Amino acid sequence: MTGIRMLRHFFLTFLGILALEVLVHGQDQAAGFISIDCGLPPNTSYLNPFLGLVYTSDSSYVETGVSSSIATEFLADSVDQQEYRYVRSFPEGVRNCYKIEVAKGTKYLIRATFFYGNYDGQYKLPAFDLYFGPNKWLSVQIRNVSKSVFAEIINIPTLNYVHVCLVKTESSTPFVSALELRPLRNDNYVTESGSLVLFNRVDMGSVTNGNVRFPDDVYDRIWIPFNFNRWSVLNLNTSQTVDYGIHNAFLPPSAVMSTAAAPTNDSEPIVIDIYNPQNESLAIYYYMYLAEIVKLEANQSRVFNISLNGQPWVGPISPNYLHTTTAYSKSAASNQTNEISIFKVGNSTLPPLLNALEVYYEVDLKQSPTDQGDVDAMMDIKSTYGISRNWQGDPCAPEDYVWEGLNCSYNGTAPPRIISLDLSGNHLTGNVPSELYARAHSGSLSLRVDDNPGLCISVSCEGKRNNTVVKVVASIAAVFVLVAVLVVVALCIFKRGKDQVIFSNGAYPHTLDWGTRIRIAIEAAQGLEYLHNGCKPPIIHRDVKTTNILLTEKFQAKLSDFGLSRTFPVETDSHVSTVAAGTPGYLDPEYWGTNWLTEKSDVYSFGVVLLEIITSRAVIVKDNETNGHIIDWVRSVIEMGDIKSIIDPKLHGSYDVNSGWRVIELALSCVSTSPADRPSMYQVVAELNECFATLTRESNDSVELMSLPEHSGLTPLVR
Ligand SMILES: *[C@@H]1O[C@H](CO)[C@@H](O)[C@H](O)[C@H]1NC(C)=O
Ligand SMILES: *[C@@H]1O[C@H](CO)[C@@H](O)[C@H](O)[C@H]1NC(C)=O
Ligand SMILES: *[C@@H]1O[C@H](CO)[C@@H](O)[C@H](O)[C@H]1NC(C)=O
Ligand SMILES: *[C@@H]1O[C@H](CO)[C@@H](O)[C@H](O)[C@H]1NC(C)=O
Ligand SMILES: *[C@@H]1O[C@H](CO)[C@@H](O)[C@H](O)[C@H]1NC(C)=O
Ligand SMILES: *[C@@H]1O[C@H](CO)[C@@H](O)[C@H](O)[C@H]1NC(C)=O
Ligand SMILES: *[C@@H]1O[C@H](CO)[C@@H](O)[C@H](O)[C@H]1NC(C)=O
Ligand SMILES: *[C@@H]1O[C@H](CO)[C@@H](O)[C@H](O)[C@H]1NC(C)=O
Ligand SMILES: *[C@@H]1O[C@H](CO)[C@@H](O)[C@H](O)[C@H]1NC(C)=O
Ligand SMILES: *[C@@H]1O[C@H](CO)[C@@H](O)[C@H](O)[C@H]1NC(C)=O
Ligand SMILES: *[C@@H]1O[C@H](CO)[C@@H](O)[C@H](O)[C@H]1NC(C)=O
Repeated sequence: MTGIRMLRHFFLTFLGILALEVLVHGQDQAAGFISIDCGLPPNTSYLNPFLGLVYTSDSSYVETGVSSSIATEFLADSVDQQEYRYVRSFPEGVRNCYKIEVAKGTKYLIRATFFYGNYDGQYKLPAFDLYFGPNKWLSVQIRNVSKSVFAEIINIPTLNYVHVCLVKTESSTPFVSALELRPLRNDNYVTESGSLVLFNRVDMGSVTNGNVRFPDDVYDRIWIPFNFNRWSVLNLNTSQTVDYGIHNAFLPPSAVMSTAAAPTNDSEPIVIDIYNPQNESLAIYYYMYLAEIVKLEANQSRVFNISLNGQPWVGPISPNYLHTTTAYSKSAASNQTNEISIFKVGNSTLPPLLNALEVYYEVDLKQSPTDQGDVDAMMDIKSTYGISRNWQGDPCAPEDYVWEGLNCSYNGTAPPRIISLDLSGNHLTGNVPSELYARAHSGSLSLRVDDNPGLCISVSCEGKRNNTVVKVVASIAAVFVLVAVLVVVALCIFKRGKDQVIFSNGAYPHTLDWGTRIRIAIEAAQGLEYLHNGCKPPIIHRDVKTTNILLTEKFQAKLSDFGLSRTFPVETDSHVSTVAAGTPGYLDPEYWGTNWLTEKSDVYSFGVVLLEIITSRAVIVKDNETNGHIIDWVRSVIEMGDIKSIIDPKLHGSYDVNSGWRVIELALSCVSTSPADRPSMYQVVAELNECFATLTRESNDSVELMSLPEHSGLTPLVR
């Protein structure tokens, strides 16, 4: 083959080498740019004076890793590249991910930069893998302690965030220096299916021998100087501006276009060999930028054709003076060696030229990210419980790095779904997100949450809170066990199988004794108390009523029907504005009037329930004697000092009068008009326990002591 073999195996690596370039600032074009200096101290940022761009710390984009600065002897190499001074390294875990919010549907150029700089003092050049979401981007191999390398991908995110993950492949520790995202126009770098990974991007015949990037390049592409320092190559340059037409979506910077390379011998072609080091077929995309930068005489001409692997490709081309023509492939056949030849044709008096060249290969990001709803639910769980484990990046993909405790289903290119989740043994407190609960309920998710004493599913919870150990008896614990499906199913069975659902407008199949009533009240109160205090964030039940207290065969109580439950934000206000809901008669009048929902609204409703339990009266009775509501009725009876008339006459006086008074008093304090006057559920539980304790000490009540809630550390309610 004749001609100057200018670039034998020239593009051997994907990762370019960044030198430095001093440029004028310009911030206005940088809309949508995201510039992250990895390892920079948290919440700090600085203006990079060479780019006119603000770089921020990565602390809000990543949860793991260690920040280090490069060794002092390499600081000089980063004088103009401040973003190299710090790195974030990931000694722990196999996969660590950044999550960066983006504008979904916008095409982005995404760049990760690595400058080792002996940050770890080990002088050991690391190698690891880089992933873009669930798909492998490329392998990073650092070959020089003081040279930066970068990887770029062009992609249109389908979600409103992207994950960039570093994956340990051998003994070395992954690290990263900078992450940059630059929005592009959607009409450039168009590919058939996937995304483009940069192979190389060169500025031919550079006179400064420095990189060109923002603000010269509005997209902040980094153009690496390439000079053929050979006798046979002519480096051309002009001080004029090289423009582009309105239809050129690539917007190549003038600083790049104003230089070019051409053979000195008019007859010689420019031959570029692009060697694909990976032994796999790749679809390669070429973008050639051509502009005449020599003012031609009347008797001069520059006309050339371009061929690929010996096949005619483009031509004849005669580039316009100071105006860019972009020749690009819509898709190109792959080959291990690809040879581009640019050669003059016809009566051209001048040799061909080339101003700039980009080479990309197409990657098919085959693996879809996990179903968005599942991801959101997992993120919810993660933030609620602060689970660290290996929970980073995409939960299900790639399959090799599925989050611990998950199993997923995969179906071709469809987004994976989570099919099982094991949260057991994590000492979790809080409540399971409703999406997961719903999926568990519908049977499409298997959910394991045992050994999490403080965890709530949307139906109930139990557990340990602070140092106050409130251990719910085993049978109750079974009720509160958080396997969503089981609980829901169980509740339904209890509800239906139980015409022994004791409280329904006074019509009971048989009469519960006093001790059992108190115990039921305690168990229901404990359920509420855990919603309020044991769950993070706390839950307000909002619909506490007797028909929502379900009983097992042994009259053990549990709360149900959490359909109206609201979690409320922990660290903001202690009340939430909602549209008033709930059941008339049980509804806190304060809430009804203001729509301010607090835990005290549940306390009010519980007070009503307590009155029902001890009176066996309906909440609202329409008769001639009373004005209807149980509270008003009880108050009116108390005014007459007639406790016997308050407590269910079917007990025929077989109850402890002292505890009777205490419970009535407690119930009335719960229904105090002012929420501030109502006790907390914690105090309610304590007081009821006190009543129960005196009861079992003083009477031969038939309540099974085995099923008593154990309690310790509870301070008695000061009356
Ligand atoms: C960084 O900012 C976040 C949110 O403003 C804050 O929670 C965190 O404590 C800050 N970190 C440091 C180290 O200042
Ligand atoms: C590493 O890079 C520096 C700066 O680019 C260069 O001077 C040095 O020769 C390189 N070292 C090796 C071993 O390639
Ligand atoms: C730029 O081009 C002029 C001729 O137009 C030439 O004399 C000069 O050497 C060139 N500069 C470089 C750095 O190649
Ligand atoms: C220019 O290239 C042609 C073709 O390769 C060759 O025949 C000719 O001798 C070359 N001229 C010079 C001056 O080298
Ligand atoms: C490339 O792959 C082909 C077939 O898969 C194999 O025959 C060939 O030896 C490989 N070449 C290299 C350099 O690995
Ligand atoms: C082109 O014209 C110039 C005079 O304008 C002359 O010096 C030069 O030799 C001519 N070149 C060719 C290739 O004819
Ligand atoms: C080149 O040839 C074409 C005809 O093929 C002619 O029109 C044109 O003027 C020629 N250019 C020069 C510079 O001689
Ligand atoms: C240049 O390309 C044109 C159009 O493809 C073709 O007609 C012509 O023969 C080519 N010239 C050479 C020398 O290959
Ligand atoms: C691959 O390269 C070889 C040698 O350059 C060439 O013969 C072959 O046609 C090329 N294949 C494709 C698909 O371009
Ligand atoms: C897999 O996906 C295809 C098409 O997306 C769908 O028709 C099929 O039902 C799915 N299979 C399973 C097991 O979900
Ligand atoms: C995931 O599947 C494996 C194998 O089928 C099983 O052993 C494991 O318990 C499952 N994990 C969960 C969280 O269900």
